[in-house]
Amino acid sequence: MSSNEVYEKHMLRTTGEVSRLNGQFNLISENLGYQIHPTIGARLPENARIADIGTGTANFLIKVAPLYPKGTLHGYDISKSFFPSEVPSNVELSILDAREPIPEELEGTYDLVHVRMLAMGLLESDWRTVVANLSRLLKPGGALQWEECNFLAWSEGGFYPESTFQALHTIEKLLIGTFAPRFKIGWNTLAGDMEAAGLAEVGTEVVGSDRVKSTLGPYTANSMCVCFQWARSGKDSIPFNEEELNELEAQCWRDIGSGGYVRFDIHVNWGFKSL
Ligand SMILES: C[S@@+](CC[C@H](N)C(=O)[O-])C[C@H]1O[C@@H](n2cnc3c(N)ncnc32)[C@H](O)[C@@H]1O
Repeated sequence: MSSNEVYEKHMLRTTGEVSRLNGQFNLISENLGYQIHPTIGARLPENARIADIGTGTANFLIKVAPLYPKGTLHGYDISKSFFPSEVPSNVELSILDAREPIPEELEGTYDLVHVRMLAMGLLESDWRTVVANLSRLLKPGGALQWEECNFLAWSEGGFYPESTFQALHTIEKLLIGTFAPRFKIGWNTLAGDMEAAGLAEVGTEVVGSDRVKSTLGPYTANSMCVCFQWARSGKDSIPFNEEELNELEAQCWRDIGSGGYVRFDIHVNWGFKSL
């Protein structure tokens, strides 16, 4: 198996996944209300050096580039499969495995290191090392900002008394149950890992994926895309045949049409390297 086995074992790298990731990123940002937490933004110089780890489609850097036209923005990922063909002139994308010791020439060079949703690429035993690795990228006074979702806090509901959500419940329970060992860590351990890495002023904010009500339908649809892509990928065994899966998916879209939705919590964690 390749060195990126952890992510690739369960996740897809298709062109459809690029637009799903972009949609997911935008919906999370809309609920957060920012790309860079205001506590960090207030301290960033206009020529900030910013790294995004597990950058995927580089959506974070593409959104941040116009805010820091004098900044230097570097995206790193274990694979270039999601990299866009064009990026703003102050953005560069490269390969880096966050689980490996970081190259010496990058140590102490960034004002901000950002990470969003790396959980599927990490095992429980990786987190502390990865947080320590990424903290080493920071300049004195620099910040690490990291968003992970607590999918274990998911629930479903409906906008209207007649809304249905049983099919949404069934597929979401299957996906989250399968990945529960992965989802039980990260969102709740990052603050401790940041402190262990020597970061100060460690903070956490929890925002519901339903803070902005208009995102609930699109976010539920986005979640269904990942659920059914995964269920059909054959990467894990599931208790449905193709016909049952088709029926379940059709019912999920009817659930969404009726006002049914799923929601969970988004955890933002940050810490600063001492001056
Ligand atoms: C769920 S995607 C999130 C992408 C992006 N951060 C976003 O929020 O849209 C996870 C990304 O992490 C990358 N990844 C997985 N394991 C990694 C590792 N060990 N080091 C660096 N990147 C990794 C994957 O290739 C993928 O692009």
